Amino acid sequence: MKSTEVSAAQMSFPDFAERPRFAEVSRERLPTNTTANRHAVHRWFNFIAGFAPEFVAQQCQTLVDGVLLDPFAGCGTSLVVAQSLGHRAVGFEAHPFFVRIARAKTEPPPQESRLRAIEAALLNGIQAPEQASSLTKSAEAFLGKLFEERTLQQLLGARSTLEKAGMGADDVAFLLLSRVVDRCSKAQTDGIYKAPTSAKKADLPLDAIHTVIGEVRHDSALIGWSEKLPAAVLHHSSSEDMSAVETASVDVIVTSPPYLNNFDFAEMTRMHLYFWGICGSWREITNAVRSKLVVNTTTALTGHRDIQSQHRDGIADSLLPDLDPIVAALAQERRVRTGKKEYDLLVYPYFAQMTRVLLEMQRCLVNGGAAHIVVADAAFYGIHVSTPQFLASVMSEMGFQDVRCIKLRDRGHRWVLNKREGSPTGLGEYHLSAKRERAS
Ligand SMILES: C[S@@+](CC[C@H](N)C(=O)[O-])C[C@H]1O[C@@H](n2cnc3c(N)ncnc32)[C@H](O)[C@@H]1O
Repeated sequence: MKSTEVSAAQMSFPDFAERPRFAEVSRERLPTNTTANRHAVHRWFNFIAGFAPEFVAQQCQTLVDGVLLDPFAGCGTSLVVAQSLGHRAVGFEAHPFFVRIARAKTEPPPQESRLRAIEAALLNGIQAPEQASSLTKSAEAFLGKLFEERTLQQLLGARSTLEKAGMGADDVAFLLLSRVVDRCSKAQTDGIYKAPTSAKKADLPLDAIHTVIGEVRHDSALIGWSEKLPAAVLHHSSSEDMSAVETASVDVIVTSPPYLNNFDFAEMTRMHLYFWGICGSWREITNAVRSKLVVNTTTALTGHRDIQSQHRDGIADSLLPDLDPIVAALAQERRVRTGKKEYDLLVYPYFAQMTRVLLEMQRCLVNGGAAHIVVADAAFYGIHVSTPQFLASVMSEMGFQDVRCIKLRDRGHRWVLNKREGSPTGLGEYHLSAKRERAS
């Protein structure tokens, strides 16, 4: 089997006459992206913060001709699964890079003529290298550490050629060149921080183009350019306001929000933001990207430090007796710790924003519709924040029924207290589920 092929048994998009089959995977893998490369389309672009297509498929089992909503669409895993199972899908993604990736994966697969045009532009582009001095100083310095000089010039040539060929707005072309960029980087591209220090093998641009076009060509031919592909609509905006979705129009929600103290989604995409010219400096990354996302890391506090009490006002009263002592303890730790991390300032913004998203989710769901959320707890300076349980209690208070929280996998023991203080379990990723109440 050639490297671009996915075996029929693993293929989650066999054709549209027959629904795809999703194999059983272990519970530990459900919140991870480790099975994504087994599946057509999912493998075009996925990242470490994604969940398994199998997790989404599980939640769609009883759905017939339904509508799925994902308020934090990322690379589009849940939307692609919904479409492949014959359901309509709607998503929200506030990040300008991920929204284009998810759109490329959810539009009807590209026909051969379009793929050929993209391929020709990319191949011509690497023959017409462009000086990195066309980038901003910050972008040039950062990208200069990730690529061999010649490689970066070739990739920039490919970017310009796509634009000149009128394909600057083509999301499939954008996805393909983004993957090529990933493969040609000398630094780890596992999506955490593309730090120049974490070396990896870099492809040459020509090889990378052949590989990624090969995958998209193979999968697109397999799926067929199909009128039957159910629609997926992806909104480039924050899910704190989902007014573009009609009230009581969604059957199932499958999603995973940013976790507290986990990935900074702006930072993790710095290579692509600079490469595409979406941002030219750290400040622009904060203003144009970070500020649009749920506040989950201390790098995202710009504009939130002075409105802590406003955020606190947006949180259910019942949750404040849990959150207030955590915020006070973190503020105390900040005073004595050398790092002086402002963890205390993350808690109110995060839960206020998540409360707004949960309210919107409740509004969008039909009566009896279900919400499935993959989310993790956090530990700052050894102080535990049980995010899944807190979100569960907010949902119960809002009137969601059948609220359940199941641990899917362990994520380490960074906060476990010593025996004297009582030793709870370590950090984990959880499946939080609930039903919107039925009308009586
Ligand atoms: C955990 S990832 C979701 C990954 C997705 N399940 C997948 O498999 O690709 C969370 C996503 O939420 C996005 N995000 C953060 N804040 C948002 C907001 N307020 N509205 C919409 N999307 C947001 C981030 O950019 C990120 O792509």
